[in-house]
Amino acid sequence: MKSIAVLCSGGDSPGMNCAIRSVVRTAIAEGLDAYGIQRGYAGLLEGNVKKMDVSSVGNILQHGGTILQTSRCPEFLNADIRKEAAHILKRKGIDALVVIGGNGSFNGAYELHKEHGIPVVGIPGTIDNDIEGTDYTIGFDTAVQTAIEAVDKIRDTAHSHERTFIVEVMGRKSPDIALYVGLCSGAENIIFPTKDETVNVDAIADDIKRGIKRGKHSSIIIAAEGEVEGMSHRVKEELNTKHGIDSKVCILGHIQRGGNPTANDRFIASQMGYHAVKAIIAGQPASATVQRKGQIFATDLKECLGKKFDVDPEMMEIVKTLSI
Ligand code: F6P
Repeated sequence: MKSIAVLCSGGDSPGMNCAIRSVVRTAIAEGLDAYGIQRGYAGLLEGNVKKMDVSSVGNILQHGGTILQTSRCPEFLNADIRKEAAHILKRKGIDALVVIGGNGSFNGAYELHKEHGIPVVGIPGTIDNDIEGTDYTIGFDTAVQTAIEAVDKIRDTAHSHERTFIVEVMGRKSPDIALYVGLCSGAENIIFPTKDETVNVDAIADDIKRGIKRGKHSSIIIAAEGEVEGMSHRVKEELNTKHGIDSKVCILGHIQRGGNPTANDRFIASQMGYHAVKAIIAGQPASATVQRKGQIFATDLKECLGKKFDVDPEMMEIVKTLSI
């Protein structure tokens, strides 16, 4: 083992730069050559690989985004394309690959390992916090913090105008951002992502009206963006027209993916980058760094190939109890 390359794949997330810095510096400290692959798997296929040194990752840990950039690369689902990627890695003299991304990116890494024997490590990097096998994915805390700050501002105007706001957060197939933002911003209700277009707007309206009766001046509904585009607008229309509730929609969108990572994201990303390199040096053939019960370590990548979708019923119970 002489050299390690690192890439980011899928949607970017705040803290990816901390992980890159940690991988590069740990590798160099261990006497390995470190390479950065620009633009994810797509960049790998273009041979967009550069040698990194200690200073090429200086002054980056506080910034959002990723200095290596990222991409979604559906072509990587194709075995012939992965064969090409394996050849490129070999030609460039790269012995192992660290992939920072979500579960789709992990699956690509796993296939690359299975088919071509290249040691790989996945570092969970996605704002969605939805990778199986780890309690945490890098970027989630920052995204939630960004959304909460936005909802706090929306509360000001909602209160002044006695309105209901449906605030749409990210997480097309993942409930965690909506759940955490809902609980932390005192939302009256949370709408989770679903393929099903039906949301019980009557029940939401009943909650809002009960709140108004007991003197509330505003209501916040947090809606995960979901797979059905325009859901928030449909809920708003129904609240306005059928229930006479003055409602607005605010879609937070990609601001949740940017910004300086929180302390928690820096703390976890720095540890995960370190453990990723240590796993490769220890000879773990295909692993992922995870956080479980507060501990960060590398485990078998196979445990982390799935996507989580858990809504803790107790959390929902707390959201409902606290918003009476
Ligand atoms: O990276 C995760 C995520 O931000 C999801 O929350 C969201 O549904 C999706 O990516 C948006 O992807 P894109 O930026 O490619 O539209």
